[in-house]
Amino acid sequence: MSLHVLKHPLAAHVMTHLRDKTTRPATFRTLAYQIGQLLAIEATRDLATKEKPIETPLEPFTGQVLARSLVIVPILRAGLGMMQPFLDLFPDVSVGYVGLERDHETAVARSYYCKLPPLAGTRVLVVDPMLATGGSAANALSVVKEAGAKELSFVCIVSSPEGVETVQSAHPDVPIFTAAHDRGLNDRKYILPGLGDFGDRLYGT
Ligand code: PRP
Ligand code: URA
Repeated sequence: MSLHVLKHPLAAHVMTHLRDKTTRPATFRTLAYQIGQLLAIEATRDLATKEKPIETPLEPFTGQVLARSLVIVPILRAGLGMMQPFLDLFPDVSVGYVGLERDHETAVARSYYCKLPPLAGTRVLVVDPMLATGGSAANALSVVKEAGAKELSFVCIVSSPEGVETVQSAHPDVPIFTAAHDRGLNDRKYILPGLGDFGDRLYGT
């Protein structure tokens, strides 16, 4: 099991503006798209490829193309803010949805929606910007495994040590990709320094 933290000057730049409380929703959505692109590249470095013989204008050539289809599963609602970069980058991507919402008092995630494509034989990326207690991520990964997924990764924008620990103990086979690994949680289970409530900032609610 592994934790991968993005190390790139552009990632640091984008994260600083995402964290800034004066950043308005329109800019916040653009920044979420940009960090999502960097994470999408990082989280798919090991995708399997297969040979494809083609002809260049000058001679025959054997290239590589992606061997398997990719499934992206955003956790509603904030995960939608990370979906578009994956759709734009990968040609044959399917989308599944898992709807989870944290109770504001207990911070425990409640499931309210699930719609998944066939998952057998695919590579699945579950995406959710905030890995706080880890309850939502661990729950979503279980749902996706029960639906047949065997090869999964979890991709987030900000993680906490508590969230990583929860996911790693429930799903030791699932690598975690994050743009920032933060200090911890406050008494309301928000990540510190974090960026606040991602869904609210994304949608101006
Ligand atoms: C946020 C976030 C994660 C969850 C993380 O969603 O998008 O899904 O909290 O917290 P956890 O690691 O403690 O479970 P939220 O429940 O606020 O719902 P939303 O996406 O609809 O805003
Ligand atoms: N969900 C968020 O949107 N932000 C946090 O810091 C924790 C959970």
